[in-house]
Amino acid sequence: MTKIIAISGKGGTGKTMFSTLLVKALSKKTRNLLVIDADPDSNLPETLGIPVEKTIGDIREELKKLTSENKVPTGISKQEYLLGKIYEIIVESENFDLLVMGRPEGSGCYCSINNWLRQIIDGLAKAYDYVVIDTEAGLEHLSRRTTQNVDTMIVVTDASKRGLGTAKRIKKLAEDLDIKFKDIFVVANKVDDKTKDIVEKNAQELGLNVIAKLPYNKEISKYDMLGLPLFNIDEDNEVYRKVENIVNSLIL
Ligand SMILES: Nc1ncnc2c1ncn2[C@@H]1O[C@H](COP(=O)(O)OP(=O)(O)OP(=O)(O)O)[C@@H](O)[C@H]1O
Ligand SMILES: [Mg+2]
Repeated sequence: MTKIIAISGKGGTGKTMFSTLLVKALSKKTRNLLVIDADPDSNLPETLGIPVEKTIGDIREELKKLTSENKVPTGISKQEYLLGKIYEIIVESENFDLLVMGRPEGSGCYCSINNWLRQIIDGLAKAYDYVVIDTEAGLEHLSRRTTQNVDTMIVVTDASKRGLGTAKRIKKLAEDLDIKFKDIFVVANKVDDKTKDIVEKNAQELGLNVIAKLPYNKEISKYDMLGLPLFNIDEDNEVYRKVENIVNSLIL
């Protein structure tokens, strides 16, 4: 059975950092891993060190253009056409496969294309043991239903009350939309000895379970400043080690 893990949370809390280290840790356990960058302001390919040329958004635009010009290839359904194109843009690396969603629908309704895409992606995910999705900041991924089949939702927060507020809203909106995660966990990031207790207390009040507290780490910051792929960070890194622990204890 495929296990789908999504990373969400308020903007700038460390979703992409966490996703990258999660992919690093998971890829040591399985080669059958699909990584999806679902943030329109995509930067996971850079932190993973895997260049990506084309996105799902590009394919959707191309199909829309072909449809309006009556140039859709005959003898093949639009779904088959889309699936073929998706296979073309998946980047296969040594450790995992990577798919980038790109920009969401622009003006005009692409509802049917989006629904097919969702079905195709869901179908595609079944071929993998694990799928990791890095989402955009906020709650939009839930209303767009890109995270509706997720097993484990990991919400990354900083020590701010607003970060935890987003975590709470993600939980509530999922319930309202009847989206059921098997697990929903909170990871507190960039916390120190003083703030970690406050986060814990606030989380408890909101009924959220904090599974890890990650410190601010200079090495992570250095990789970011130099534009180096965080995926290559040393395995002794204290934050990476904590992420590896989460993988071993809660994901595998
Ligand atoms: N534990 C950490 N130690 C040091 N720097 C960190 C840590 N976690 C994240 N950062 C830095 O904080 C910034 C934001 O992190 P990141 O891009 O992962 O956040 P995000 O939630 O994905 O942001 P966005 O909402 O824009 O997608 C980056 O510069 C990243 O390198
Ligand atoms: Mg991000």
